[in-house]
Amino acid sequence: MADDSGLSAAFIPSLYKPPALLPIARHRDSLLYLVETFPVTIVVGQTGSGKTTQLPQYLDQAGWTADGKVIAITQPRRVAATTVARRVAEEMRCNVGEEVGYSIRFEDVTSAKTRIKFLTDGMLLREALVDPLLSRYSVIMVDEAHERSLSTDVLLGILKKIRKKRPELRIIISSATLQAEDFLRFFAGDDKKLSVDGEQEELGGDIGRIISLEGRMYPVDILYLETPAEDYIERAVKTVFDIHTQEGDGDILVFLTGREEIERTVQMISERAAMLHPKAKTLMPLPLYSGLTVEQQMYVFEPTPENARKVIVSTNIAEASVTIDGIVYVVDCGFAKLRAYNPQTGIETLTAVPISKASATQRAGRAGRTKPGKCFRLYTQQSYESLPDTTVPEIQRSNLAPVVMQLKALGIDNIVRFDFLTSPPAELVIRALELLYSLGAVDDYAKLTKPLGFRMAELALEPMMGKVLLSAATFGCLSEILSIAAMVSLQGGIWVQHDGGERSAAESSRRKFAVEEGDHLTYLNVYHAFVTKGKKDAKWCRDHNLNYKSLTRAVSIRAQLKRHLERFGLSVDESLSGFKTQADPDKPEKIRRCLTTGFFAHAAKMQPDGTFRTVSGGLTLHAHPSSLMFNRKADWVIFHEILETGDKIYIRDITKIERNWLVEYAPDYYRMR
Ligand code: CDP
Ligand code: MG
Repeated sequence: MADDSGLSAAFIPSLYKPPALLPIARHRDSLLYLVETFPVTIVVGQTGSGKTTQLPQYLDQAGWTADGKVIAITQPRRVAATTVARRVAEEMRCNVGEEVGYSIRFEDVTSAKTRIKFLTDGMLLREALVDPLLSRYSVIMVDEAHERSLSTDVLLGILKKIRKKRPELRIIISSATLQAEDFLRFFAGDDKKLSVDGEQEELGGDIGRIISLEGRMYPVDILYLETPAEDYIERAVKTVFDIHTQEGDGDILVFLTGREEIERTVQMISERAAMLHPKAKTLMPLPLYSGLTVEQQMYVFEPTPENARKVIVSTNIAEASVTIDGIVYVVDCGFAKLRAYNPQTGIETLTAVPISKASATQRAGRAGRTKPGKCFRLYTQQSYESLPDTTVPEIQRSNLAPVVMQLKALGIDNIVRFDFLTSPPAELVIRALELLYSLGAVDDYAKLTKPLGFRMAELALEPMMGKVLLSAATFGCLSEILSIAAMVSLQGGIWVQHDGGERSAAESSRRKFAVEEGDHLTYLNVYHAFVTKGKKDAKWCRDHNLNYKSLTRAVSIRAQLKRHLERFGLSVDESLSGFKTQADPDKPEKIRRCLTTGFFAHAAKMQPDGTFRTVSGGLTLHAHPSSLMFNRKADWVIFHEILETGDKIYIRDITKIERNWLVEYAPDYYRMR
């Protein structure tokens, strides 16, 4: 056969760095040797060294997908799973869903041809419900393990169990920072006596090894503020312009905490960029966060046009999960949004908190991938010194109800004795069991109930929404709740976002769909209007400021949920699904009651000043401006989502209820408190 290496090299599109130049390439043989020899391989390497995109291809070429087996690579984030799958598909010159595919909640883009499958760690756990030994996979790579997401930690525990029953299974743990020994100790621990300062051989025994891909890194200058910033957004924007006007070529990556901040910052940068000298380089601000559509995400990865500078304004997604080429400057606000569950109030918030030193280092490192870079920390050196070394794993600060339910469905009843890399605090486990008990998912012996508990675990919904959906038939509103569950699963994004002047237009079109009882019924209204009028007509959506893509997705999610219910033997009668039909004027109340059966733990009462108080009295909540209940009167409400911005806690997806429904549908919960 002719030597085609020159030819294929010549045909690599210019946006690719030839994979042979990536740091991982030199380690190809050692990696394949380790995977061949040991059940567990721990790969440590800086972000961008090629772990996620190259390693699965090496394994595929080496025969790990022969005889129909599949390689799974898990990601903590949906965005990472989809973008990386797309990238690897391009490199392998196939379409996503063919040899390379991905699977995230409500979106399975794989086929019988798929040999390399990227999926969220949560999705792999879900697959274990149907295939407890995950037997279709020859290799499972737990990527970004250093992030210690809730599902990653649970998955590691499950894989440790599976490994004992499937000695041929290969597990790869990949991590951007040095926690490698903890992972190896976890897997090797039971099989080998460990000496604290033992050699690596001793540490891993016959079970595993650590391999480090010392990627090349250029030096990064770290700059601090002399005095703390009053407003880090304002400061970030200023820093971006200082870099743009005073520093050399190279794109800028700005780390902020969440969608709203990011959109605001992108807006501020565009406005000010318009005032730059007409001959100056253009500044292209681009957002990057989880809720973006695929198309919006792709801009970020496209090469920077000639005579322009990209400014990517991102959440901590860009910290390690995704790699963007060409970054030379990093602006780090020093905060990240993290889940925090308060066992007293039973409420989980997403709160902006100071990052860890490890995160700060990781963020700075994004500047030094292709040449020496600079990192502008929007905090003082003293603040940096006071940061914690590492971030507390999610399992120690989350609402564990979904995890406890899932573990129980996998046959693991004694959560406290389960082999976790880091154990969750007992208090969180107890609170999770209390909630599941009140929802009717577990019985007096903390066993999953049949059928409710098992069905809740099988649905791809969190426990509260799962309960609502599974109660809906008894309230005679299954069809409507299906639509609501699908809409709520979109997590915002139903309305087209508008800037400045057009915002009021969006407001008024939103009011057209508004229903007095609250957001959930409004969503239902939008859904019905969409399927009857807008589904075949994107213009209808534009006229109503609705996001056509999102609503199409809602239709698909609804169909998936419906198939699930049908598998349980629940049939959905769509003939009565008209909203507020003449036939049943009580429908809105039925829906509100049904919502209460799941969301009773998220109940609040409006105060005279218009804020809300939780039942336990501990928290003051504000209706989010995107909610119908913003600036409206109500008495008791239930809500779905909680967001924390600045020093205020916002709720959205709110519906009015009656106080006595709480006691009617959750007597245990309200007695226990
Ligand atoms: O997983 P790890 O951080 O070690 O690296 P990777 O994600 O496999 O990235 C390897 C290379 O592929 C980097 O040079 C990226 O620039 C490139 N890449 C890309 O251009 N677009 C993507 N969506 C993913 C990776
Ligand atoms: Mg990676």
